[in-house]
Amino acid sequence: MDKIVIEGGTPLSGQISISGAKNSALKLMVACLLTDEVLTLTNMPNLRDTRFLGHLLENFGVEVKDGDKKHNGHLSLHAKTLSSTTAPYDLVRKMRASFNVLGPILARAHKAKVSLPGGCAIGARPVDLHLNALKAMGAEIELSEGYVIATAKGGLKGAEITFPFISVGATEHAMLAAVLAKGETVLNNAAREPEIVDLAKCLNAMGAKISGAGRSEITIEGVEKLGGTTYAVVPDRIEAGTYALAAATVGGAVRLVNVRSDHLGSLWPLIAQAGAKVTMDENSVLVERHGTPIHPVDVETQAYPGFPTDLQAQFMAMVCLADGVSIIRENIFENRFMHCPELSRMGANITVTGREAIIRGVPKLKGAQVMATDLRASASLIAAGLAAEGITEVGRVYHLDRGFEQIEVKLGNCGARIKRVSE
Ligand code: UD1
Repeated sequence: MDKIVIEGGTPLSGQISISGAKNSALKLMVACLLTDEVLTLTNMPNLRDTRFLGHLLENFGVEVKDGDKKHNGHLSLHAKTLSSTTAPYDLVRKMRASFNVLGPILARAHKAKVSLPGGCAIGARPVDLHLNALKAMGAEIELSEGYVIATAKGGLKGAEITFPFISVGATEHAMLAAVLAKGETVLNNAAREPEIVDLAKCLNAMGAKISGAGRSEITIEGVEKLGGTTYAVVPDRIEAGTYALAAATVGGAVRLVNVRSDHLGSLWPLIAQAGAKVTMDENSVLVERHGTPIHPVDVETQAYPGFPTDLQAQFMAMVCLADGVSIIRENIFENRFMHCPELSRMGANITVTGREAIIRGVPKLKGAQVMATDLRASASLIAAGLAAEGITEVGRVYHLDRGFEQIEVKLGNCGARIKRVSE
């Protein structure tokens, strides 16, 4: 198994090009199930999760073609016919986003059998909101031996759905199902993340009629048929935020390109508050900190446009080195502080009580052997390692490979002393 070995203490300096968003790409790929024509996605990140979803789609008879590498991440998906309507446990348990195939298969084939996703390290993560939305659209749902067996005789029907709380996955799932339903669907208390807008834009380019994506109320006028299209995946705001925070944590100057700075509106003021300088122009963001101290900053995670839970661990790595006390509150997931003991192994002073972590800044971190516990937590350990004195070894990097494209290459190009080693 690979590990990442870092020799800390060198400021970062250089330019990083941000890849297409993993969380968007996964839902856009699923959209191919809604049409018998070809969906081509460009600006596709090459990640373990996207490759894995490609295999799952092949299981339904989708022809998955990687494009010409020169064109940077083309992926063609052709679900001419669905050869299967079952997503087995082995393929769903590895990645929760696989569960979102249920709605589109049900919408197209009027029946689907999809394994329930397993629990995961950051919390129980149930799918009740997903299932309730499909039921509201007329699906009959039976749970049997760990599978969801759904049928919709005569197809799904439009419905008014009010989510009891905001869920990105359930909002996307309901949209994916409603585009081929008969009549109008209204989603109230919908998630507003840029990935929702991206999915709506792609579906509309395929012939769907969705309005309001990016707002709390989304309206979907069902259509009979969707067609193919070519669509570019939105830049990854979480990857961009991760490198911005790494620059603030380690020090130096990093310019992010191919970035949508407007998708990180909650992050920039907090990075500035911590003492880094953020300069934006139309196509790039420059994050700099040259020898000035990091100041403590309190933050709590919220649904978009609030501060993203997917940047919480990386933010914590930064304030571990602040000249004071910061409080971080995690509101989205109940168990998303597993990086704390790992950061503590590097000398951080963190106390977790329930959903809050109190971080008493220390003047320096020290290299240590640590273990990646989930995707975003892995990135926080890498930033901490780059800022620390001495050598840090991050194990279990398969988490990292799920969602960060060539992280060691991108950071290496900025002068980081970082390498991947096979054990
Ligand atoms: C997506 C992102 C993930 C991000 C999260 C929140 C993908 C592939 N993943 O995950 O990176 O951290 O949004 O921004 O896009 N919940 C329920 N019942 C449900 C659905 C959700 O109780 O049916 C709960 C979850 O357990 C969680 C909260 O709602 O506590 C929010 O989860 P949700 O927004 O659905 O996250 P995901 O879509 O799984």
